[in-house]
Amino acid sequence: MGNPGTFKRSLLLSALSYLGFETYQVISQAAVVHATAKVEEILEQADYLYESGETEKLYQLLAQYKESEDAELLWRLARASRDVAQLSRTSEEEKKLLVYEALEYAKRALEKNESNFAAHKWYAICLSDVGDYEGIKVKIANAYIIKEHFEKAIDLNPKDATSIHLMGIWCYTFAEMPWYQRRIAEMLFASPPSSTYEEALVYFHRAEQGKTYLKLHNKKLAALWLTKARDYPAHTEEDKQVRRNRSS
Ligand SMILES: *[C@@H]1O[C@H](CO)[C@@H](O)[C@H](O)[C@H]1NC(C)=O
Repeated sequence: MGNPGTFKRSLLLSALSYLGFETYQVISQAAVVHATAKVEEILEQADYLYESGETEKLYQLLAQYKESEDAELLWRLARASRDVAQLSRTSEEEKKLLVYEALEYAKRALEKNESNFAAHKWYAICLSDVGDYEGIKVKIANAYIIKEHFEKAIDLNPKDATSIHLMGIWCYTFAEMPWYQRRIAEMLFASPPSSTYEEALVYFHRAEQGKTYLKLHNKKLAALWLTKARDYPAHTEEDKQVRRNRSS
């Protein structure tokens, strides 16, 4: 206390830190406002690119914000990643990376906002995409999760014809599952996923009432998913083993 120099300095420091704190508060409030405005702008731009079919540009735009905490942005990034994965000029290695990346973004979108129907829908779609790279056991386990998320998406937005239509495809896929696939499923799970054509039809009719699913990209999406869900190529050792057991 005897040194007035020290006292003066500490007074100055505390004044500075007080000012610093104020400044920080002002800046961070401004940053929040700015960030919200910015997200809206990005989404607007993203939706324009999506409608124009600018798949790669859309991905490039949204990938810059992959650390975002915004569910609306993250599910769009998930969709864009899988759209790039679907392009014929995308290599097989890139495709695999993108498909898993898409799932990661969709998962984060869900974590950020569980009430966002689109996050549930794209999580379900992305999870079904990674099935191409997983063994049959994982694929069947994922089928339950996929269904849950489509159902949740429909609960949150009963007018979303895409989710309703994809739910119909889910039911159709498991209604027409050939006997040998059902045998595999029964070997692996106590109650394997199953459905009926009637159940599938209910969803298809409901989706048709919505009509919006007739948009070209949704039709393409559904068709891709349908062929994918139907073939169960033996990609992994696990698949092959299951098949060997089946034939023995
Ligand atoms: C979560 O999503 C719902 C539906 O889109 C929205 O109404 C709500 O404001 C969102 N919550 C947050 C925290 O962003």
